[in-house]
Amino acid sequence: MIVALIPAAGVGTRIGGDLPKQYQLLAGRPLLAYSIEAFAASAEISAIYVVVAPADQSFGGVALSARAEALTRTLPVGGASRHESVLNGLEALAKELDPADWVLVHDAARPGLTAALVARLLAALLQDPVGGLLALPVADTLKAERADGKAATVSHTVDRAGLWQAQTPQMFRFGLLREALAGALKANRPVTDEASAIEALGFAPRLVRGSPSNFKVTYPEDLELAEKLLKGQ
Ligand code: CTP
Ligand code: MG
Repeated sequence: MIVALIPAAGVGTRIGGDLPKQYQLLAGRPLLAYSIEAFAASAEISAIYVVVAPADQSFGGVALSARAEALTRTLPVGGASRHESVLNGLEALAKELDPADWVLVHDAARPGLTAALVARLLAALLQDPVGGLLALPVADTLKAERADGKAATVSHTVDRAGLWQAQTPQMFRFGLLREALAGALKANRPVTDEASAIEALGFAPRLVRGSPSNFKVTYPEDLELAEKLLKGQ
């Protein structure tokens, strides 16, 4: 079985606004709806689990297509960090998922996901022993800043050769992923993506080429960019 798990229990500190980021509107639709619909449009995905905050009052108001509605279930077990939200979601599914089932973890804040990207990830990884993630080779020159607490100035240039930016979905088998995230939390090693936890166990996740459109909406101007992309401007 192949399922999607969407952590959507953050508050969106960097974007600000009255609503948590995942519920802010993009072309009139909550951000979260786009990722759900992308998975619903992927025939291989048999369930879409959305991790929301325990006190969430907003999910019920998200309008979905009939197919998305039928596949989606909320898990009101969001935690203090993305790491904990994903782990809590996996724990909540322990009875219904098999250790060998694939889980595609995807940020609610990446509305640019498409069924074609999901298909690319699945085609690359379904036969893989470990799993992997969508990512993009770094194109810009990278600067490290001086840690002197003043206005940002360059300390040195970081070689970008061989560096990739991690995106989501990140696709791993349920059993391994749960073990990896639980182990990292227990060892007090917070992770910002699933792959880091898998890497810490000595595995090498595969890098599958993502898309610039699959960027993470983080700041207010990102929402404007996402809207322009969506409208083909
Ligand atoms: N997330 C979550 N639980 C948390 C924190 C984040 O489920 N405690 C989710 C967010 O809802 C988002 C994804 O993880 O879909 C990626 O996180 P990020 O872009 O950092 O969103 P926020 O944490 O909400 O934003 P910020 O860091 O600016 O506060
Ligand atoms: Mg965050």
